[in-house]
Amino acid sequence: MQCSAIIVAAGSGIRLKLNAPKAFVPLRGRPLLHYSLQVIAALAEIVEAVVTVPAGMEPQARAEVVRAGVEIPVKLIAGGAERQDSVRIALGITSAESEIVLVHDAARPLATPALFAACMDATRRADGAIAAIAVADTLKRADGRTIAATVSRDSLWQAQTPQAFRRRSLIEAHDRAIRERWAATDDAELIERCGGRVELIESSATNLKITTPADLEIAEALAARILGG
Ligand code: CTP
Ligand code: MG
Repeated sequence: MQCSAIIVAAGSGIRLKLNAPKAFVPLRGRPLLHYSLQVIAALAEIVEAVVTVPAGMEPQARAEVVRAGVEIPVKLIAGGAERQDSVRIALGITSAESEIVLVHDAARPLATPALFAACMDATRRADGAIAAIAVADTLKRADGRTIAATVSRDSLWQAQTPQAFRRRSLIEAHDRAIRERWAATDDAELIERCGGRVELIESSATNLKITTPADLEIAEALAARILGG
């Protein structure tokens, strides 16, 4: 099945507090975006990539595409105000010949090609498939700083990316989101709201999302172990 990959990398990284767009912050000397591009380069099913970047960062992104050795066509496009807008903009320029679209956050540099492949593969039997991990911590609902209730973690999962969907379904879901003013923090939610069945692909905590300075420190340590050195 032919697949287009969307890498969303247009965020500003406010919570990382480095005064730089997050996808261009270095991890072991390479911008976060570099790692997702390398994964894409390793997967034969992916025939093209669309990368959303902050307006004006196209030259830096193009340089990373070259450095990562990506040989498939890569379209760079300025992202939108929110992540959901960025995905919609990117989807709009994916090839109509791709049956499957993979969406991945550049903020998750340690996702593996195997995880991408497992998500793509699961779209044969479901409307979508996402990387996720079962919740391990005990969860509290709060009223200010006072615990109001303990929430059972049974059957609760933390959603990650990559996330894979049929391209047509994802376009329809995003169109409907505009019409009905849905705001979602991931694409699976839009497919769910449209009645689609989305499968959970068990991932690992090493596929962390870099949000805060502490996450970047953890990722540096993990990357040293996973990538050597
Ligand atoms: N993203 C995007 N377009 C946006 C917002 C986010 O392409 N308008 C991307 C980010 O680049 C990131 C992913 O979506 O790879 C997840 O977003 P998040 O972790 O929130 O990153 P930022 O928005 O950059 O961080 P912050 O919210 O702290 O500013
Ligand atoms: Mg954000």
